[in-house]
Amino acid sequence: MCGIIGYAGHRPAVPVVVEGLRRLEYRGYDSAGTAFVRQGDLRVVRAKGKLAALEEKLAGEPVVTATCAMGHTRWATHGVPAERNAHPHLSNDGTLALVHNGIIENYQEIKEDLTARGYVFHSETDTEVLVNLIAERRKSEKDLRGAFAAALREAKGAYAVCLMCNDEPETVYAARMSAPLIFGLGTGENFVASDIPAFLPYTRQVVFLEDGEIVCATATNYETLRLEDLRPTTHVPQTILWDMQAAQKGGYRHFMLKEIFEQPRVITDGLTGRVNGDGDGALLPELDSLPVPERLHIVACGTSWHSGLWGRHLLEHWAHIPVQVEIASEFRYRESLLLRKDDMVLVISQSGETADTLAALRIAREQGATVLGLCNVVGSSIAREASSALYTQAGPEISVASTKAMCSQMLMLALMALYWSGRKDAGDASDTQTKDQRRYLIGLLESLPALLEAHLPGMHENARRLARKYADARNFFYLGRGHCFPLALEGALKLKELSYIHAEGYAAGEMKHGPIALIDSAFPTFALALDDALFPKAKSNIVEVQARQGKVIALANEGLDLAVDDHWVIPRLPAPLSAFAALPALQLFSYEMADYLGKDVDQPRNLAKSVTVE
Ligand code: G6P
Repeated sequence: MCGIIGYAGHRPAVPVVVEGLRRLEYRGYDSAGTAFVRQGDLRVVRAKGKLAALEEKLAGEPVVTATCAMGHTRWATHGVPAERNAHPHLSNDGTLALVHNGIIENYQEIKEDLTARGYVFHSETDTEVLVNLIAERRKSEKDLRGAFAAALREAKGAYAVCLMCNDEPETVYAARMSAPLIFGLGTGENFVASDIPAFLPYTRQVVFLEDGEIVCATATNYETLRLEDLRPTTHVPQTILWDMQAAQKGGYRHFMLKEIFEQPRVITDGLTGRVNGDGDGALLPELDSLPVPERLHIVACGTSWHSGLWGRHLLEHWAHIPVQVEIASEFRYRESLLLRKDDMVLVISQSGETADTLAALRIAREQGATVLGLCNVVGSSIAREASSALYTQAGPEISVASTKAMCSQMLMLALMALYWSGRKDAGDASDTQTKDQRRYLIGLLESLPALLEAHLPGMHENARRLARKYADARNFFYLGRGHCFPLALEGALKLKELSYIHAEGYAAGEMKHGPIALIDSAFPTFALALDDALFPKAKSNIVEVQARQGKVIALANEGLDLAVDDHWVIPRLPAPLSAFAALPALQLFSYEMADYLGKDVDQPRNLAKSVTVE
């Protein structure tokens, strides 16, 4: 899940590439590098660490004359983060440079073969193997594109690659297979990148490359070809409507904070055009031609999986559809998987590129299931490969830790439950919500933006105060029941990914089966104890923790009978919609904790936003 950008144009290319890499840093940031041709020599500059380290190195380089360049920001898969493993990688003869996102699974085999032919390797990467394979194929193929395609046909795995050659200093070559790559079509300049923000200041015209496609681009020309046989392909460029403003910090200290505060707008945008004129039904025309599922399998990773776990409660309760929720990396390797006729699979992914989720989608499609994709990134692989795509419309999410995307996924899941409830109701099913109930629920959804807008500043204050109070904790439990259990998982995930404090999310009722042994006065608990049918149970669990001297922060509603160290009151909403009020509190607590502890909030160590490797 590295970031790639290639540029051929009329501007000094290296600064364009470095600036593009900055907008891709969310994809990985343990090293970075660039390649360009200067006086016939292919020059590669690389540095370990964040982009600033590369910029420092480039300061000593005369780069201004190059008008064609490529760059890479890395998230290590093969080999430790180090300059020798950073991209671009050069072929042994120094004529080719390659940047790569993904994994070449058979690289060891290829490496052995190339080693036997006298090639030497200076890194532990699969990328250096691939660039030398291209060099080797140049000996037998008639031109570079032929050699590029021949080598890629031999490579097994997932990749997006960008190639430069010293004989063709004005051309960038790129290709994709199961990893994102987008071509940007400018005036007198062309781009290729892992994600649109990399080149958005220069062009809005894009081509979403398909798996198994190559693109060859100069400043004024481009061609797309099939990797298989080099036959030309055709595309109609699409226009991107959102702008860079949406991907800037907008005065907030971090992207994460901005994205948390964007949640009221995300809900407003998500509801726009999705409610019928009478206010008693959800409009999801993407689903109109599909049957109401008999059973639904939700498959996702990370925060998206938590959304799915939460959504199950609504889909089962409101639409009476039995739902199974599974982690994609488990789903894809479960041999006994038997999808039944009329089952539907819903894959949820902010990026639409998560490798495990994409693989799960493909397996489900192979088994003949209808697969819905719920994605944020328009034109992403999952959105394109699903039988039908639904978009969360949350806008670009830059902070690695997902926040507003979860809110938008929850909203869409609520709308799906309402939509299918409406369809069942129209078919005279008795096991679903009535029109009046749906009108009430939709009214609640519509009230959320104003409610959150009013409470977010106060929540932020509470989060700041509590984060300082609990900043010396090395462990945390997050407890919840029912629809609050997925929130407990999400709260714990946010705390560990941002502040590196060990945190576990637990179903509160499971505590007594082991984990409670860990509780002492230095092991605090963050309990979700909202005013719903399960409150008495949640309260009992809190008392159990307190009996072991555990300190408790309880996220609860006003007027509840609770005696805890910190009673954090959030606005009251009927379950399960109360999750919309609890989620930002959990996010803000982790944000404030990480910021107070001096952590890199937007780019936590070892993580990446878009995990396009297994
Ligand atoms: C990464 C991100 C998480 C995200 C997960 C799934 O691990 O750091 O924030 O929840 O991938 O991503 P997706 O794009 O499929 O929702």
